[in-house]
This record gives sequence, C-alpha cells and structure tokens, in this order.
Amino acid sequence: MIDFPLVAVILAAGKGTRFKSDKPKVLHTILGKPMLWYVKYSVSWIKPDKTVIVVGHKKEDVISSVNCNGCLFVHQDEQLGTGHAVSLVKEHFMDFDGYVLIINGDTPLVRGETLHNAGEYLKALIRYEGVNLNTLRKGYRNRSIAGVAITARVPNPYGYGRVVRDENGRIMKIVEEKDADPQEKRINEVNSGIYIFYAPYLIQALDKLQNDNAQGEYYLTDVVRIMREEGRYTYALEILDYTEILNVNDRLQLAGVENILKQRFITFWALNGNTFHQPESTWIEFDVDLSRDVEIFQNCMLVGKTQIYEGTVIEANCVIKNSRIGKNVRVLANSYIEDSVIEDGAVIGPFARIRANSVIGESSQIGNFVEVKNSRIGKETYAKHLSYLGDAQIGNKVNIGAGTITCNFDGYRKHQTVIKDRAFIGSDTMLVAPITVGEEAITGSGSVITKDVPDRALAIERNQQKIIENYVEMRKKKYEKSGD
Ligand code: UD1
Ligand code: CA
Repeated sequence: MIDFPLVAVILAAGKGTRFKSDKPKVLHTILGKPMLWYVKYSVSWIKPDKTVIVVGHKKEDVISSVNCNGCLFVHQDEQLGTGHAVSLVKEHFMDFDGYVLIINGDTPLVRGETLHNAGEYLKALIRYEGVNLNTLRKGYRNRSIAGVAITARVPNPYGYGRVVRDENGRIMKIVEEKDADPQEKRINEVNSGIYIFYAPYLIQALDKLQNDNAQGEYYLTDVVRIMREEGRYTYALEILDYTEILNVNDRLQLAGVENILKQRFITFWALNGNTFHQPESTWIEFDVDLSRDVEIFQNCMLVGKTQIYEGTVIEANCVIKNSRIGKNVRVLANSYIEDSVIEDGAVIGPFARIRANSVIGESSQIGNFVEVKNSRIGKETYAKHLSYLGDAQIGNKVNIGAGTITCNFDGYRKHQTVIKDRAFIGSDTMLVAPITVGEEAITGSGSVITKDVPDRALAIERNQQKIIENYVEMRKKKYEKSGD
C-alpha cells in the first residue's frame, strides 16, 4: 500500500480500434475477467485515497462491468489523447498536496507490488533530495522531483513510447513511436504508461500540453518534458520483468498476455506443491485455489471460484467451474462439473456431467455418461452408467442401475425424486417425479415407476415375458410357403 496522499487515475476511454470489435477494448477478457479488472485490482492493492476511471467509448458497458462502488467515473466523449484524458480528471486533484498515479487500462499484467515499489522509490528520492547539497544550494529543496515513471527494456519496443534519459539517468523526454527519429527508435527502454506525479506540478504541465505531433493528440507523456523545463524531474523506475508492462492493442497481444498470466498462476500453484502435466495446456483463473498435492493432467479448465483439496487428481480434458472438489477425489477424463460440491474420495467420470447445485457425497461414484443436476447424492452411492439424475435427493449406499432416469419435468414444472438409503434402482428404471423410493426398496429393471415405493418393497412395472417355442422354425416355414 502507498502511505502518502494519492489519487489513482485509470485511462479506459479508448475504443481499441485494432480489436475490430463492438466491445470496448478494456472489456475483452483475460482468463475470464475483463482486462480492466486486473488493472483495477493492482491499483486497489496500493489503497489510493480515490480512484478515478476515465471512460468514453461505450462508457455504460464499462462502468457496469467494472462494478466498482468506490470508483469515480469521468467521461471523455472524444478521445483526444492520454493527456486530454488526464486533464479531464483535474478537478479530482485540484488543490491537492499529494500525488497522482496514472495507469493505462490496457496494461493488465502490472503487479500491485510494482505500483507499491514505485511509491517507495518516490519516497526514497524525496528523502534523498532533502539532503542533497547541490539542490539545497540552488534553493529548491524537495522541489525538483516531479515524479516517477515505470519503464522496462523490452525485446521489441515497437509501438511504445521510448524513454530518452539525460546524462544523470533522469528522463529527458518520452518519444512516441510515430514521432521518434531512427536513433530514438533504437532505444529499447519503453514507457509503461504508469507514473506517479506530484499533483500541483502535473496540473501546471497539463495546462501547457499541445497536440502538435504526428497523431495530433494531447500526449500525457509530454508532461515529463514540460515539467523538466521548470527544473522538475521525472525519474525512471526500470523494472526487470518487462511482461508486467505489456500493453494490449490487438487480439494477438490479448492472447499473449493471457498466456503469461496463466503461466504466473501455474508457477505459483506448482511451487506450492501441485503438479500440472503439460501445463501449457491448462486453463486456470485468478480465483482458483488449490491446496497441495493436487494433480492436473492436460487440457483442463479450472474456472471461477474453484477449490481443489489435497490428493485429488483431475484427468485430461475436464472442465471445473465454481466448484469445490474435496480430498482424494478422482475426476476422470472428459468430465464437466459446475457450481457443485464433490466430497472427499468421490470418483467422477469419465465423461460425467455434474450440473449446477449438486452435491456428490463422500466416496460416491458417478460414472460415464451420467448427468446430475440440482441433486444431492449421499455417501457411497453409485450411479456408474448412462443415467440422468435431476432434482433428486438420493441417500447413502444407493445403487442406481445403468440407464436410470428421473423424469423430473412434466412439460410445465420440475418435480423432485427422493431415493432413500440403500435403495436399489434396477437398470433402465424411469422414476416419474414427484416420487419417493423408500429405504432398501428395489425397482425392477425397465420399470416405469409412477407411485411411491414403500421401504424394503419391490416395485416392478412391466409385462410378463412370453415364450413362443420354435418361433424361428415357424416363421421360416411361413415365408417359404408363400414364396415371397
Ligand atoms: C501509451 C503511451 C506510450 C506508452 C504506452 C504504454 C501516450 C501518448 N503514449 O501509448 O508512451 O509506451 O501507452 O502502454 O500516452 N485513452 C483514453 N483517452 C484517450 C486516449 C487513450 O482514455 O484519449 C486510454 C486508452 O483507453 C488506453 C490508454 O489510455 O487504455 C492508452 O492509450 P493507447 O492509445 O493505447 O496508448 P499507446 O499508444 O499504447
Ligand atoms: Ca496501448
């Protein structure tokens, strides 16, 4: 957190032309969350006194998806440049004896710690400046620091503002790609678009911005040069992990950034004692929580608030969304689980589908081609083949035979099926809900059960089997006689 007065400004008004999209750029998602969410998250990490988001293109969509109660929104109806965007926020740091953090909404990988470090660096500079004899003699004690800009050296600086430093290492100016001369283009230290400036100096400089450049825009970056003309210097905090400052201008960069973020999450969980086989194929989101000794095979998607506990194995090609998976569970290949709870020791799949609001009890087994929806299944209950269990309350140690279906929908309403402990449901039973099958009760295979079954009773509903002896012979004779 930053412990000096700070207003944060997030720039998110641009359209993102190169996305060729109806959706504003900052709302395109990275691992399931809008790009802007990550920027907002890192900013909130340092706890600024105020956070202002500049919105423009489709601002209603941006405001509603940011869903930030404490945030203030400023509208920039015409996108005349980053400098113009910040000058619209001036009223929020007018007469403010503090600092302004500015960050672009298209830089989702920056860490909260890095913003914090920029604040610490600024504080150190101010302390240092306080005892610097040269500056004291010149009479501007503590007055020569305009702020800090985060920079990094990138493998390909194309498209970024280049950081031109003076002989003392301070920033002389930031030159945009389109305005850079061939020599400046060769500089690989680039501007991240993240700065902390002293508010009174920033306001003065914003008022002097011009748009006489290659793009005809008011560049925020020009404030560095303008403040310098007043003897106020911007210092560069060059960070080592350049991936933090990658900005997203098109969908390929979006994919690249998503990959990097995913690698970060996987690195974290792997170093905390979890195994990923072929991690490059794993999808894992921000809110996923793994305990220890979880093993995840290739092509799995772990989505939303998913928690997985010790000793659990997720085989290949599984999707798990917003679910809690207990200890020593085995989710076998090609299974899909959402908004559900799987208790310790259960086995799910292969090819199982657990839909919303289901609980699969301890050591129960839900096998291939079984679909479970809005159902609570007790302990040690088996439904191992080809079934649909919807809106059901199923007890402990129940056996659900292959092909069993809870007929829960009558065309108008959904109805409940209750199956009590140790019941045995014969294969291919249709349980027409609402219905209750009692404790230890049995249903005969192929039965259509429409009435409640008492405890320990057998319910069977099918025609008597008929045997016609020598039927094949008789049929042969019949056809041979007619000559057809
Ligand atoms: C900007 C910087 C560049 C830096 C790069 C880092 C300027 C002039 N250039 O360039 O030095 O290397 O970011 O990522 O600042 N926006 C508005 N209103 C506007 C224009 C932009 O809100 O009028 C927002 C955009 O939505 C975006 C952010 O500001 O989130 C940056 O704008 P963008 O056009 O992407 O700037 P870059 O050209 O990448
Ligand atoms: Ca950009």
